[in-house]
Amino acid sequence: MAVQEIAKGIYSVGARDWDIRDMHGYSTNRGTTYNAYLIIDKKITLLDTVKHYCMDQLLENIRQIIDPAKIDYIVANHVEMDHSGGLTQMMELCKPEKLICSPMGKKALLDHFHHEEWPYEVVKSGNQISLGKRTLQFLETRMLHWPDSMFSYLKEEGILFSNDAFAEHLCTSELYDDEIDLSLLMQECGKYYANILYPYSGLVKKVMETVDEMNLDIKMIAPDHGVIWRKHIDTIFEAYRQWSSGTASKKVLVIYETMWDSTRKMAFAVEKGLLENDVSVKMINLKTMHYSDVIAEVLDARAILLGSSTLNNGMLPAMNNFIYYMKGLKPFNKLAASFGSFGWSGEAVGLMNGILEGLKLELVDSGIKHKYVPTEEALEACTEMGRRVGAKVAGEFTV
Ligand code: FEO
Repeated sequence: MAVQEIAKGIYSVGARDWDIRDMHGYSTNRGTTYNAYLIIDKKITLLDTVKHYCMDQLLENIRQIIDPAKIDYIVANHVEMDHSGGLTQMMELCKPEKLICSPMGKKALLDHFHHEEWPYEVVKSGNQISLGKRTLQFLETRMLHWPDSMFSYLKEEGILFSNDAFAEHLCTSELYDDEIDLSLLMQECGKYYANILYPYSGLVKKVMETVDEMNLDIKMIAPDHGVIWRKHIDTIFEAYRQWSSGTASKKVLVIYETMWDSTRKMAFAVEKGLLENDVSVKMINLKTMHYSDVIAEVLDARAILLGSSTLNNGMLPAMNNFIYYMKGLKPFNKLAASFGSFGWSGEAVGLMNGILEGLKLELVDSGIKHKYVPTEEALEACTEMGRRVGAKVAGEFTV
């Protein structure tokens, strides 16, 4: 990643990871970046490091500006290893005066690296540290994405260093939001939100309210993955407000996996009923899409209808995988139902219903299961379920 000056004396010095395709189960089809930022002031300050195998890139970039040994302060906005994997090496090189982190950050740094002697400077929300001409103000942002996470706001320049928030996994040679296609960018931001921040939506909402109340004059948001926001700040803020509130579109997903085509026939019978209404329908065969892409579709869907055949008293493997992944991400404000074919025991529908109920999604049907190959009557029952769900969703969006 070439060094780029984002404001006078402030540099983007992080690393690009074009090759990564898996981030703890998240399919990163377009790679990612680990952004780090260097502020040249009386106290030379580095915000975050990078993943351990990208340290050469970070050091090479810093050396184009200064000798890394001259860094006075390191800010650890987040301890997860994609941002602190290079911290031990950097601490040895710099021996900084301060390692600035949140209270939870200090605990997590100790639990990761076991260095009691590091010069921790613990900051809480509202605390400020002068760098010389400029000032960093901190805001703890617990669970965005870990308990230790925080934002650092550079007051004089209006730059919000937001770490994981407002980020996306997208590796690009462009640095800013207005240099790439906005719809692609928002698509990746939605996928990122769904896979990383969805379960913490209540806390995201509070952070958004706090940022509003602080009335910050934000000219730039500099996250630790993907591009810097300078033109579309309102767009990403509004998207976070919508996503954290569970705002849905009139989209219905039929997500299924089939063994001998019977459940697939049921899925398309459901679709037939849905399409009798003014709704947008997506048919997702779990064998064709990665679960982390499916959850991105779930984010703004109003209804999710799940289909699986029964295999060995359970769901088929891809549905099993997806539904447990989804369970952890805690989607909310959705209508739901399930269906599927079976041979002799037929547990899949009950298992799917149990998880949907556990998520407190609104079950709109007790579930449809049919032995072996569906009859015309069974398919009509599926169509009727689709019809009812479609009518309900369309009705909500009729002005
Ligand atoms: Fe980009 Fe939670 O780490």
